[in-house]
Amino acid sequence: MFEEIERLRTEFEDRISKVSSLSEIEELRVQFLGRKGKLTALLKSIPTMPPEKRKDFGKACNRLKEEIEKRIKERLLFIKEEEKKKKLESERIDVSLPGRKLPVGSLHVVTKTLKEILRVFTSMGFSIAEGPEIETDFYNFEALNIPKGHPAREMQDTFYISEDVVLRTHTSPVQIRVMEKHQPPIQIVAPGKVYRKDADVTHTPMFHQVEGLMVDQKVTFADLKGVLELFLKEIFGPETKVRFRPSYFPFTEPSAEVDIGCVICGGKGCKVCKGTGWLEILGCGMVDPAVFKAVDINPEVYQGFAFGMGVERIAMLKYGIDDLRLFFENDLRFLRQFSGV
Ligand code: DAH
Repeated sequence: MFEEIERLRTEFEDRISKVSSLSEIEELRVQFLGRKGKLTALLKSIPTMPPEKRKDFGKACNRLKEEIEKRIKERLLFIKEEEKKKKLESERIDVSLPGRKLPVGSLHVVTKTLKEILRVFTSMGFSIAEGPEIETDFYNFEALNIPKGHPAREMQDTFYISEDVVLRTHTSPVQIRVMEKHQPPIQIVAPGKVYRKDADVTHTPMFHQVEGLMVDQKVTFADLKGVLELFLKEIFGPETKVRFRPSYFPFTEPSAEVDIGCVICGGKGCKVCKGTGWLEILGCGMVDPAVFKAVDINPEVYQGFAFGMGVERIAMLKYGIDDLRLFFENDLRFLRQFSGV
């Protein structure tokens, strides 16, 4: 009978060393100590034994029972400890790893170009002025010497809000608003959105302009040339060729258009400059006395020059962008190319 106890002990030892989960341990406990367990069966057999053997056998059984309970407890602890270790290992965080970078936005290429333009002019002493995008006929046309029925109004495809209110077609009305409020000397640039009823490969219904105005005593065309030449060389590089061509604008007299040597072909002639070697870049001129009269500035005392340019056009030439629509499609593959510029 005692061999039976030894056999159970060996069997138990063998089995307990192999269990590796809490459920397996529980199963083993039931198999040995449960109501129908192997050791329980031995204990139950005691009353059928000869009385002189019962005491020793009972003791041996109880010793084994205690041993089994102790071993189960130990194994339980061990397995719990192992599981905790495994869990910690799988959840380990390497705090020395670099963090994940969040995507960072960048300025739109039109905004960048605009900032660059304003930087150059403010460094020359111009301050920044702004005006409304919804304008009256008076500021957008009338005060700029473009009366009703004037052919120049047809050049501009205007969005009318009512007969007298328009989306401004250019930033020139800001000139009028500034001169109405301030006496010379005046030296401003006015950036902003303008609107024209035009949409094709080279026109969008909204685009950006920068207007410039300088008014004082003894302001001459030479000042205009000096300011614009310096500006264009700052934007397109010191080697840039600049030329002034006579032109016509109702609000300036004399008027000129300014070209730069083609940045694509270097002046040899290509598709972009249509074989001329020159690119038209802005309009300018001396403020027409009729404009001064509209804002009550005496043209006998003051002279001024004005200029206006398209920001998208400058961005296209500066960065070699060949399709105006790219600016407004918001394709990240396009926009990201300028994030470091
Ligand atoms: N307002 C003109 C346009 O939108 C640009 C312009 C030309 C502005 C000559 C000026 C200027 O101030 O003097 O086409």
